Amino acid sequence: MKVLVVGSGGREHALAWKLSQSPRVDRVFVAPGNVGTFFDAENVSIDVLDFPAIIRFVKENHIGLVAVGPEQPLCAGIVDALQGEGIRVFGPSKAAAQLEGSKIFCKNALKLGCIPTAEFATFDNAQNALNYLKEREDRPVVVKADGLAAGKGVYVCQNRDEALQAVQEMALDKKFGAAGERLVIEERLDGEEASVLAITDGKTILTLPPAQDHKPAYDGDKGPNTGGMGAYCPAPVVTEAMLRWVEENILVRTVHVMNRLEAPFTGVLYAGLMIGRQGAKVLEFNTRFGDPECQPLLMRLKTDLLTIMEATLDRQLDKIGSLEWDPRPCVGVVMASEGYPGKSVYGHPIRGLEDVAGMKDVKVFHSGTRVNERAEVVNAGGRVLTVTALGESIALAKKNAYEAVRKIRWEGAWCRHDIADKAI
Ligand code: AMP
Ligand code: GLY
Repeated sequence: MKVLVVGSGGREHALAWKLSQSPRVDRVFVAPGNVGTFFDAENVSIDVLDFPAIIRFVKENHIGLVAVGPEQPLCAGIVDALQGEGIRVFGPSKAAAQLEGSKIFCKNALKLGCIPTAEFATFDNAQNALNYLKEREDRPVVVKADGLAAGKGVYVCQNRDEALQAVQEMALDKKFGAAGERLVIEERLDGEEASVLAITDGKTILTLPPAQDHKPAYDGDKGPNTGGMGAYCPAPVVTEAMLRWVEENILVRTVHVMNRLEAPFTGVLYAGLMIGRQGAKVLEFNTRFGDPECQPLLMRLKTDLLTIMEATLDRQLDKIGSLEWDPRPCVGVVMASEGYPGKSVYGHPIRGLEDVAGMKDVKVFHSGTRVNERAEVVNAGGRVLTVTALGESIALAKKNAYEAVRKIRWEGAWCRHDIADKAI
């Protein structure tokens, strides 16, 4: 079978790499892809939001399955558009992707399903939000833009003044455009964050081993938030008992409430959790694999990913049994461009990739890379590579990953040095 992966990040490189290992997959295409997917699959230069071009490509090339990586096309309705043409596509419908695309939809669904989450209020008007903050006790809150803002539309505020400033920036200065026209204000939760991802066909839920991302830019969780600077799996902060609890009280209830809302969920349901003294609460849902969580997860997955995706489309996940995993933990370290998450500097040749290519149990997934006129691989995005490694323990996986990181260099390249330390 031929498959098409939609997207261009490390997550999509990992999806393409894993799908190409399936005995039933002949060719993997990635739209638009990056240098990593150029080597491990075949790139087609189609934008993720150009649905007519994607549909044309799928039909002309007899693609048997499309897997969508990023949230933008999902929230814009790529699954509905392709399904309308009879194409088999893995991912949630536009209605179901609202769980990620609208924080207000998400909070209301959580409330309806009695699913543990922070106390909240929603606003479609800046003045009401400002009044609400002024009338309430001065304590830490989190202000969130309703719509997609590339992970940047969330301000964790220490006090009322910071919260008022956040409302000003989002709803009045329109820092995130239309995404900030509506707001959620919620209580700030304390604890440790973890990601629990599951694959569901709307009926059966296959929970994946817990993972942990590192959103702040710098060591010790300092600095501005990013798309994610590294991830590892499994994350021991989510114990086996906690994972079962999350499955029953969060994942099952979410799948159920989405059915009640007539937006049945299929695809990857990603619960961003805060694990505190009172147990786990939902911070957010994503409706796709996380990037970079996907990279260590798929390094460990042994079950055929195509079989899992097809079973999801056929509502036959109950027939898969349990998923098989490499018992070894896996750590992925993101190497970023100078300046990221602010304005970054691009175009520097990346050295050392060939030295790492021969390393056992190490895989470098590309995100922002391209080839220049001199046929050199250069950095072309904020997050550039996820250097991912297995090891007998988390500490050894970390050691292997950083050993590979040290072999790779370009001008201004940097990474966090403490990925997975919370688990060591
Ligand atoms: P979100 O996109 O909703 O996951 O928010 C991005 C980040 O903001 C999360 O990964 C948390 O670090 C933080 N955050 C979001 N909501 C809360 C909350 N209620 N309490 C504390 N931190 C939060
Ligand atoms: N790593 C967080 C995300 O993909 O949203």
